[in-house]
Order: sequence, then structure tokens, then C-alpha cells
Amino acid sequence: MTLDLATLDAVRRPIKEARGLPNACYTDDEMFARERELIFKRTWSAVALGQDVPAPGDARPIEVLGMPLLLLRDGDGAVRVFHNVCRHRGMQLVTTAGNVGRVLRCPYHAWCYGLDGQLRSTPNVGGPGVHEHPAIRPGELALQAVRSHVRVSESPGHRLRKVLARDFSKSRPVIPESPGQHHGAI
Ligand code: FES
Repeated sequence: MTLDLATLDAVRRPIKEARGLPNACYTDDEMFARERELIFKRTWSAVALGQDVPAPGDARPIEVLGMPLLLLRDGDGAVRVFHNVCRHRGMQLVTTAGNVGRVLRCPYHAWCYGLDGQLRSTPNVGGPGVHEHPAIRPGELALQAVRSHVRVSESPGHRLRKVLARDFSKSRPVIPESPGQHHGAI
């Protein structure tokens, strides 16, 4: 889909005479693909609310721009975002939201990750009863973290909304806080 300048000019006129974007801007696959590359992959996007993972050990799979991600709340209340992919053979770690307890266990070969994403154990990786292997260095195999940031915002109803945002570009500055807003653990 191509947007000509006349259409864009009509959108940008003063509000009383402006026209909306063509319907296809909201439904066209090509337009969505361009938005993904030019906007959503380059800056911060809100992806979840704190209440989506309210308790320590809560894990929730989400998909953002076609990527499987995982929200995980640790024992201290901090929420992180990881790629929802095991570092062993690439199994999806979590398929349904729930509480994983103190460790996240891969359903394939039972590698276990702490709630901070660190690889904690690799059962039988060296053969039956052998839980280590010279080629497997756990310190290098933590879950892949996605840059994330927590905002606490006051909604129109005056309730605090805790919004988790992510940045795939890994380069955008953290969103400035406005009056009445701050960030921190959610
Ligand atoms: S794929 Fe996860 S433990 Fe093997």
C-alpha cells in the first residue's frame, strides 16, 4: 500500500477539517510490516501490565512483533522480559500463564533457570546421572533478556497502572517520566 502526499496532507490539517487515515492503514499487511520495521522495532512499546504477573514466580508468555517473549516476576518482586526460548535446543519454555515456583523448568530436557534467568541446572546433560558437560558452560547460557522498563502511571480513574515496556533496538533512552509518573518495581 502506498500513501500519497495528498492523503497525508488531509490527515495533517487542523482538526476541524482533517480527515482520518484510510481504512487500509489499519488492515493492510504491508503497512503493518512497515510499521513494525520503522516504528515498533526502533523504540519503546508497552507490552503488559504489572498485574499480568502479580506474584513471585508468575510467568506469562506473550508475543510481540512475532517474537515469543516471557514475563517473569522474581522473588524480590522485579519483573523481567526474556526470549521465551530454552538455550539448549530452543524449546518454548512457557506456553500458558502460571506460577513456576522458584525455578523455570524446560519441558524438553528439564534444564532449569532461576527467576533471574540464570541457568541453574542441566540434569543428565553428560549422560544418565551426570549433570555437567565440558561443552556446557552455565554462566554463558542465561535466558536472553529483552531490554525492559517499568512505568507507574496514573490512569484517568486515579488508579496506578504499572506498565511494562520493551525496546528491541537496545539503544533508545528510557522514556522520560512525566509529573505523577515514576518507574520502579511493579
Ligand atoms: S530444549 Fe530445553 S532442556 Fe533441552
